[in-house]
Amino acid sequence: MGNKLSGKVAVVTGGNRGIGRAIAERLAAEEAVVVVGDVSGEPTTSKSSASELIFLQLDVTNQESVRSFVDKVLQRFGKIDILVNNAGIVVHKSIDEQTVEDWDRMMAVNLRGPFLMAKYVAPEMRRTGSGAIVNIGSVEAFMVNPWHTAYAASKAGVHGLTLGLAVDLGPDGIRCNTVCPGWIDTDLNRAYVEMHPDRSLIERELGQLHPVGRIGCPKEVANAVLWLASEESSFVSGEMIAVDGARTRKISLPPILDEEYRAKLSKLTV
Ligand SMILES: NC(=O)c1ccc[n+]([C@@H]2O[C@H](COP(=O)([O-])OP(=O)(O)OC[C@H]3O[C@@H](n4cnc5c(N)ncnc54)[C@H](O)[C@@H]3O)[C@@H](O)[C@H]2O)c1
Repeated sequence: MGNKLSGKVAVVTGGNRGIGRAIAERLAAEEAVVVVGDVSGEPTTSKSSASELIFLQLDVTNQESVRSFVDKVLQRFGKIDILVNNAGIVVHKSIDEQTVEDWDRMMAVNLRGPFLMAKYVAPEMRRTGSGAIVNIGSVEAFMVNPWHTAYAASKAGVHGLTLGLAVDLGPDGIRCNTVCPGWIDTDLNRAYVEMHPDRSLIERELGQLHPVGRIGCPKEVANAVLWLASEESSFVSGEMIAVDGARTRKISLPPILDEEYRAKLSKLTV
């Protein structure tokens, strides 16, 4: 597709499916060597003329697993230029139903994971004098769906981590940014739609929450990640970039404020 990442080595956590998979394929399409680390999936390698996509086992919550994963990437490729912290989980529970174990698990995957990955990858980026870290946060760090207390707290933490890494690692030539997806069609939230008794109704209503009229797809998140990972964003660091079809830019009004009412309002001068 292009050669924006020719000669670069990229790591994508949670890249076995969904948004992570789309990111891994997008970076590989720009000629990066991409190593996907995931708790699920089998070790594989696929090679095209200019790029390589490799899968290695990784549990981002486990310090030893992270250390050994980074060592394997370095032994094989000698450097890491791009780190995409994508692995994440969500639990839909009210504060009363949520257990301490649910909370700890969510924090471990969504927040401890990106911290551990950055901790072990940053020294290697510092050694080469450059690097780009792209975290996958969420619009739920700004606005929250019901039953997502722990998820929102973990993603707000990712945004804080992004600011800290951008400030601390900037002098070493390392940039850190976060892409904040809105509602993206993946396994993570597909059950939400599939369990509803009227699937077409919920799909339509979800689309209408977005000024662009639809939910997003993983490739659209991957395109934003590519930009932040590439030299095209060389002066951008410490930013949270929403990819959400303007959902979080729209203030809700009661549905009774329909077209007829709006027409009356437009004649009003106060
Ligand atoms: N789908 C959305 O609407 C949406 C919206 C906002 C943010 N996000 C974020 O995007 C990221 C990807 O979400 P998705 O929808 O593709 O989810 P997904 O469930 O389809 O994929 C998540 C991947 O992470 C892997 N993973 C889970 N725990 C792991 C661990 N401990 N170590 C390594 N890998 C692990 C899973 O095996 C899976 O392959 C997540 O961080 C999620 O919070 C998603």
